[in-house]
Amino acid sequence: MPPWRAAASKAASAVNGRRGMAGVFPFTVRKTHTPALRSQWTRRAAGGSIPGMDTQSPPHFSITTVNRLDDPSLRAGLEHLLTDAVASGASVGFHAPLDPARNAAFWDDVASAIASGGLRLLVARDGAGRVIGAVQLALSPKQNSPHRADVQKLLVLTDQRGRGVATALMNALYDLARSLGRNLLELDTRAGDFGEPFYSRAGWERAGVLPGHTLEADGSFHDAVMFCRRL
Ligand SMILES: CC(C)(COP(=O)(O)OP(=O)(O)OC[C@H]1O[C@@H](n2cnc3c(N)ncnc32)[C@H](O)[C@@H]1OP(=O)(O)O)[C@@H](O)C(=O)NCCC(=O)NCCS
Repeated sequence: MPPWRAAASKAASAVNGRRGMAGVFPFTVRKTHTPALRSQWTRRAAGGSIPGMDTQSPPHFSITTVNRLDDPSLRAGLEHLLTDAVASGASVGFHAPLDPARNAAFWDDVASAIASGGLRLLVARDGAGRVIGAVQLALSPKQNSPHRADVQKLLVLTDQRGRGVATALMNALYDLARSLGRNLLELDTRAGDFGEPFYSRAGWERAGVLPGHTLEADGSFHDAVMFCRRL
């Protein structure tokens, strides 16, 4: 772990009582930060970055909820993020190399789902505004599951991995889910992928295995592991 991350993590643990929170906001954690302030930051994580904060000190990224995808640079950044993840071998619904038309259609669907209120998208951007990560929260529309949501497409650019971006995205997503009254989260991830230990370490509970859940480009079938988490 890089020294800055260890320091940020330690400070965040002292202040937040849990790891990774420091990555949500580009700020220096001080002992004087109160629970009320942390709660304010949490709300802002779901609604916007904090203007005027020091974006040079690591961790130098911020997380925002995105309501529209019509900004061309945001859209291009999200398409690049998905292309990069698929090229890296991630099992996120597509075969490599990702067809640009499928990529565009995917984000069109995301934009429609956001507009119809069924989906929330959290985006991590670096100090220059470049999209470096994202995650989606799909709200169950069913009458019998107003408490439930699916976590989808947790993605971090390959050159930004291992720096706490995913951890910070997930922490912001938990806060967002709570604020929407969703206290049961579910997801699945390809068995044997990095996601499996990632979610286990992050406190998710293994709920079972879906045999032969995905068909890979080489014709083989892979199991998926289902995880759930109560907030
Ligand atoms: C999974 C993914 C989102 C993690 O993003 P990330 O920003 O690198 O994750 P973090 O930096 O927050 O790391 C979280 C933990 O994983 C560890 N980690 C990160 N990259 C790792 C790697 N390549 N190998 C082993 N451990 C790694 C970190 O050290 C950290 O562990 P710790 O909490 O014990 O310190 C990223 O690898 C990715 O986008 N993968 C492709 C898409 C995917 O598989 N998504 C998830 C399944 S749907």
